[in-house]
This record gives sequence, structure tokens and C-alpha cells, in this order.
Amino acid sequence: MAVKPRLVKQLCWTEKDLPQKTRTKHVHSLHPYLGKFVPQLVDYFLKRELKNSKLVCDPFMGSGTTLIECNVNGIPSVGFDISKFNVMLCNVKTKKYDIARLRKDVNAALEEAFVLTSKTSLDRYIPGKTKHKIKSNSKYLKTWYHPEALHPLLAFKSLIPDHNYQDVLKIILSRAARSSRMIAHYEVDFPKKPYSEDYHCLKHDRICHPTKNSKIFLKRYCKDVVNRIEEFQGIRTNTYTKPIHGDSSTFDFADLKIDHVFTSPPYIGLIDYHDQHKYAYDLLGLEDNSSLEIGRKKNGTSKAAISNYKNSIAKTIRNIAESSFDKDSQFIIVVNDKLGLYDDIVADSGLTIKKRLMREVNRRSGRRATNFNEDILICKL
Ligand SMILES: C[S@@+](CC[C@H](N)C(=O)[O-])C[C@H]1O[C@@H](n2cnc3c(N)ncnc32)[C@H](O)[C@@H]1O
Repeated sequence: MAVKPRLVKQLCWTEKDLPQKTRTKHVHSLHPYLGKFVPQLVDYFLKRELKNSKLVCDPFMGSGTTLIECNVNGIPSVGFDISKFNVMLCNVKTKKYDIARLRKDVNAALEEAFVLTSKTSLDRYIPGKTKHKIKSNSKYLKTWYHPEALHPLLAFKSLIPDHNYQDVLKIILSRAARSSRMIAHYEVDFPKKPYSEDYHCLKHDRICHPTKNSKIFLKRYCKDVVNRIEEFQGIRTNTYTKPIHGDSSTFDFADLKIDHVFTSPPYIGLIDYHDQHKYAYDLLGLEDNSSLEIGRKKNGTSKAAISNYKNSIAKTIRNIAESSFDKDSQFIIVVNDKLGLYDDIVADSGLTIKKRLMREVNRRSGRRATNFNEDILICKL
């Protein structure tokens, strides 16, 4: 029989209880990411349920919220994601840094990129450095960027191989690239088409113009990214924290001694996780594994898509539970289960839902009002 949900008032934070600034503190907002859960939710369960864990796993780590909160709480953790960009982002967020060296390296890259932009023109190889180019044949970049915005981005990119903190520079470049696309302000998350002319902005209710300026964003994010990393270094512990690139539905977890899981699986037909960072894949030439994404939006919510989704999530849960769980292990799943798929999924995986907690998410940010329930399923062998 299905376990009835129990509303946990303590977890029903309003915007006033838990303002955006607190939800997006330090490295949690190193780069925009659609579909993350709030760090305070993870922290709540880590402190109450998982504080003596030997190894917590998040098989769908996304932007790394579980790993970051585990690290701060001194709990060893391992995370998996099929998206190369997400894994790079998690590595950058969770690493240990010499902040003075990092700041020097990032500032030098910025300065050199601005000099290079002023001395060269777009679509040129850099004289004397044949492997470095500020040239791109990408149709995507030519469609979504004004040439004046693309030039500094490609100049910055061309200098990354000369620097020590290459992945940090790639995250800065990606964040600046996201902000300098020729898109309408009201379509930042899901841009429908490039805007090369002024347009009536539904977000600001006035005429807005598409940006031609990426330098302003490179400068802003060089500073902000280093500041956020520095803030995190103040609370970071040296606990084992390992982001891994892989497909969780087929990964062999046998060698890992995972005793608990805390995760929010991709929900069906909602988000294309590679596609939301399309600009980064294009600019950085990252390997695309989007065909292995579970529940991708592109595949919709047809009967066949639902059946595939249920099988893949159940297989992932079973893989982990069979390879390392004992009777005390908990598999905690955070999900907005509108279609009611998770009773079947958990049953098929061989686990049992012991508790089903519920929280109301009632928040307004920008033009988006969010008002829905999120379930927290506590499952065991
Ligand atoms: C809901 S998001 C997780 C968000 C995360 N809780 C956070 O706070 O950032 C689900 C993640 O699962 C990943 N994913 C989808 N299919 C996967 C697969 N087969 N193996 C591993 N990760 C996968 C997606 O790339 C996405 O980042």
C-alpha cells in the first residue's frame, strides 16, 4: 500500500524565510543551473539522517549541491553526472585553492584577453601562436552572438591553455557567454530565437536591446567567481569529495562502499540538461552525451518515454542498493512526482518507501512564480 505523505512545516520555507541570496550562497551560484534543489534541504537531512555516513552518493549530482553540503558537514561523498559540463562545474566548486594564486591567474587572463581583443580582429589566428585562434566556424556561436560580443569571448578562450586554473577560466567563460547571448531578457532559461534588433521586453516592460558587450560580463564574473570560491574555502573541509563523469544507470558501483544516497533524479520531459548549457558545449568543445540523459525533455512524456524513464531510474537505484547497501542504508529521493511514478519505480528497484515527507515550495523569483509540492522519499532495503 502506498505510504501517505506527511507535510513537514519546517521544510516549507517561504521567500522571506529563505531568500534567494541564502539559497545561492558561495559556490552554489558559481554558474546558473536549472533544476537544482535548495542546499538547506540537503543540509537538513545530512544533519538528521546521514551524519555518520561513510560515503554518501548522489547518482544525479547536477550542479553538486549534495557534494558541497556533504563536504561542509564533513561527510565523504561521491557524485555522478552524464553531463561533462556539470562534472567540470562540480570539480571547480569543490576543489581546494590557493586563493592568491587563483586571483592572480584569473586577473592575468582577463587583462591578456582584453589586450588581445584590442590588437586582433575576429576570425583571425593569433600571429606567432598557431594553436591559438580567435576564429570559430560554429554556426551556433555565429547565430546567437553579436560579433562584438563573440570576439572577447574567443580571445579569452584562446588564452586558457596558458594558465594554471583552466577549469575555473572555462566556468567564467561559460558564464559570460551565457549572459552575452543575443536573447530576450524574458527567455534567459529557454531562449526561443536570437534577437538582433531592439524588442519589447516582457520582463522589464520597456524596449530593450540585445547585448553586444561580453567584456562587461567577463570582468564581472572573473571577480564574482573568485570571490565565491574564496568564501567557500572558509568553510570547506578536507573530506573526500569526488565528482565522477558517468551514466548512473549502467555504472558498476561495486567497488564503492556507498552507505547512503541523497539525490533528485532528472524528472521526465522537463529539462534537457546538456542543452541548457549549449553555449558552453559549443565554445569549449565538450563531449556531448545527451542521448544518455534519463527523461530528457526532447523525448517527451509518451507512454514509451515514461516506461523507459521508470526502468532507467529503477535500474540506477537497484545498481547502487545491490552493490553496497545494508539494512540501515537509506536512499533519499527528492522529487516532484506529478505523474505518480515513484511508487512503481521504488518497488521495481527492490527498495521500500519507508517514509514519504512533503514540503510546499512557494516562491517567487523574477517573472516565475513557483508553487508546487516536493516529496522526499526515504527508501530502504
Ligand atoms: C534534477 S538534476 C540534479 C540537480 C542537483 N540535485 C542539483 O542540486 O544541482 C538531474 C541530473 O541528472 C543528470 N542525469 C541525467 N541522466 C543521467 C544519467 N544517465 N547518469 C547520470 N546523470 C544523469 C542530469 O545531467 C542532471 O544534471
